[in-house]
Amino acid sequence: MLKLLNCIKSYGKKMILNDVSFEAYEGQTYAIIGKSGSGKSTLINILATLDKNYSGKLFISNKQVNYNNDKEVSKIRNEDLGFVFQSYQLVEKYTVFENMLLPTLYLKESKINHELIIDEILKDLDLYDLKNNKVNELSGGEMQRVAIARAIVNSPKIIIADEPTGNLDDSNMEKIMEIFNSIKKRGVAVIIVTHDMRVANLCDNLYEISNMKINKVK
Ligand SMILES: Nc1ncnc2c1ncn2[C@@H]1O[C@H](COP(=O)(O)OP(=O)(O)OP(=O)(O)O)[C@@H](O)[C@H]1O
Ligand SMILES: [Mg+2]
Repeated sequence: MLKLLNCIKSYGKKMILNDVSFEAYEGQTYAIIGKSGSGKSTLINILATLDKNYSGKLFISNKQVNYNNDKEVSKIRNEDLGFVFQSYQLVEKYTVFENMLLPTLYLKESKINHELIIDEILKDLDLYDLKNNKVNELSGGEMQRVAIARAIVNSPKIIIADEPTGNLDDSNMEKIMEIFNSIKKRGVAVIIVTHDMRVANLCDNLYEISNMKINKVK
């Protein structure tokens, strides 16, 4: 499903990842933990195809990512991957619905009624009442749920989330983990960077980055 092989990543002379390999499969959740500055975001940006400046190989859906083919990389990003960023990356002046529609704009013309799919996801995530509210009127937990809702609009095979529960209280954190668990049951691989051990313990697999290496803890 997703496989990174022998990744070496440096910023200038500073090595961040030294021969790191990582695999993720459908229907599983993965937590990646590690101290601040250990390289979690660096790794996840590579997994998300957002950083090509490393040595190693990345396979997504059994195909090696070819960074020289922009079209192919965009297709992977739009159709295979869903991202939830640390800082939400929502368009604040747009409504919840408009934000949800954004990823679908890059898809090829199709007869799918995106609004029906969006409505279903919004209901699932308890956001339907906020559909026409502007994002800058929402609470942090609500914005985080919208960011997740938007990441699953295109039915990705892999969800990559950087600190999706950062700054959330227990009940919002649990709600978000329930959402990830129900997404995983649809056959999605969910990869979550977190420093929250409650979140890590709710994932099927646990990895830790330290000393430029990644180790499987669970
Ligand atoms: N664009 C960059 N240029 C140079 N160094 C960078 C850059 N981005 C990150 N780094 C360095 O790489 C190291 C790993 O950063 P990274 O953001 O991956 O850490 P992290 O594990 O995600 O930390 P946090 O938990 O604080 O988010 C840090 O020492 C950071 O200073
Ligand atoms: Mg980070």
